Formats: sequence, C-alpha cells, structure tokens
Amino acid sequence: MSGDQDDIGSSGKSIALEARNTGEDGRRYSPSAARNGEAIGDVLAAYMPIDGQVLEIASGTGEHGARFIERFPELRWTYSDLDEISMASQAAWVTHAEAGDRLSGPVRIDASQDNWGEAERPESLDGIFCANMVHIAPFEAAEGLINGAGRLLKPGGKLMLYGPFARDGEIAPSNAAFSEDLKRRDQNWGVRDLVQEVLPLAVRAGLTLETIVDMPANNLSVIFRKA
Ligand SMILES: C[S@@+](CC[C@H](N)C(=O)[O-])C[C@H]1O[C@@H](n2cnc3c(N)ncnc32)[C@H](O)[C@@H]1O
Repeated sequence: MSGDQDDIGSSGKSIALEARNTGEDGRRYSPSAARNGEAIGDVLAAYMPIDGQVLEIASGTGEHGARFIERFPELRWTYSDLDEISMASQAAWVTHAEAGDRLSGPVRIDASQDNWGEAERPESLDGIFCANMVHIAPFEAAEGLINGAGRLLKPGGKLMLYGPFARDGEIAPSNAAFSEDLKRRDQNWGVRDLVQEVLPLAVRAGLTLETIVDMPANNLSVIFRKA
C-alpha cells in the first residue's frame, strides 16, 4: 500500500464515508469491503446465479467483484460506476485479476438514468448486484436501479441489494443515526424503507421479493427475482 486517500470521489463529493487506501498498482481498498465480503459472498452462494453474468452497479473500489470472481469459478462479473476515481480502481482490479474475461468493465452507469449505455441490452443479465448505494444517492438512483433490473435481467434473473434499510417504519438506532448523518451531508441521501419505498418500485418493475437475509451490523441482503 502506498498512502491513504480520503473518500472524495472525482465529483469532489464524499462517496464512501470511510478512508480508502490505494495500492501502487491503482487498486483501492476499503475497510468495509474487507469486513463484509465473506458474509455477502455467502448470500451470493445461496441465492444468486454464481455461474452466470452479473452486472455490479456502484462497484466502488472493486473489491467485491474481485473477491467473488476468485470464490466462484464460473461467475462472470462486470463493474460499473459513475465516479472516475472508483472506475480507475475497478480497471486496476480487472488488470490484476487472473480471471481472464470473467472480470470486466468498468462500464459508466448512472443508475438513476433510464439508459445504461453499453450495458443496455434487454434481458441479457443473470444477475445485478448493488451494495451500499441506495442510501448514499438520491432516491432516483434506487428507482433507476430497480427499473434497470426490470429491463435488463433475464426472466428468472436476480437483483441483490446490500446495505442498511428501515423495515416498515422500524429502524435500528444505529441506522437511524447513520441516516441523519447522511442527510446532513446531502438532504437527498438517507436510509430507505424497504417495505414502504423499495418494494413498491420492485412490484412496478416486475420483480418479486425472494428473500431478506439479516447481515452483520444491522445491514440486510435483499434478493429479488424477475418474473
Ligand atoms: C459507499 S460507495 C459503495 C461502493 C461499493 N459498492 C461497496 O459496497 O464497497 C457508493 C458508490 O455508489 C456510487 N454511486 C453513487 N451514486 C450513483 C449512481 N447514481 N449511479 C451509480 N453509482 C452511483 C459511488 O460512485 C460509489 O462508488
């Protein structure tokens, strides 16, 4: 590792809320991805198409995809983001990986948009994965993400969300405090209510809730299935 960087994205805005380290080869590392990667991988193993093509939205440092590609030898994973610094790290993970074309991207995708550029191929994806974006972006990003899953997943394809959520008005005290902190940074950010805000989007997009998995530190993994 060579030095620490802060959590400021190329827009000049805080995107990660934690210190990230950058190695000399350009790969970035975040403490949270190191902590949560194994537990998230266990959920992928149980519920996601680990022998298929998965598009990751908001890949951040890129550690999750690199880790999952190593763990699941049939998995194909494509990074995306809208932040240039994050995309540079994802590109460095692709260069470094010994996975051939099983690890690809990054594709520039703003999840809130209704056209995802080179990823815009209807019913082409087995899975879409998105960790820790829905609360650190305007609600339009959650809407766009779920609409995108409705457009681009194959029938039977899966969408996995990971992060903190409220559940029908109930929120863990630590998540309530986190949400207030997020709103102080940007009034359009904040922890979303899975039942009241996210599920209605999924229904409209043709996605069925498959399961909710409680994760460490009051996070959830939420799996949807395209009809
Ligand atoms: C807290 S980081 C999470 C990174 C990674 N998924 C993780 O869990 O370590 C939030 C990420 O969301 C991305 N992001 C924010 N708004 C977005 C949007 N509208 N579309 C796509 N990505 C977005 C940021 O650039 C950043 O990479």
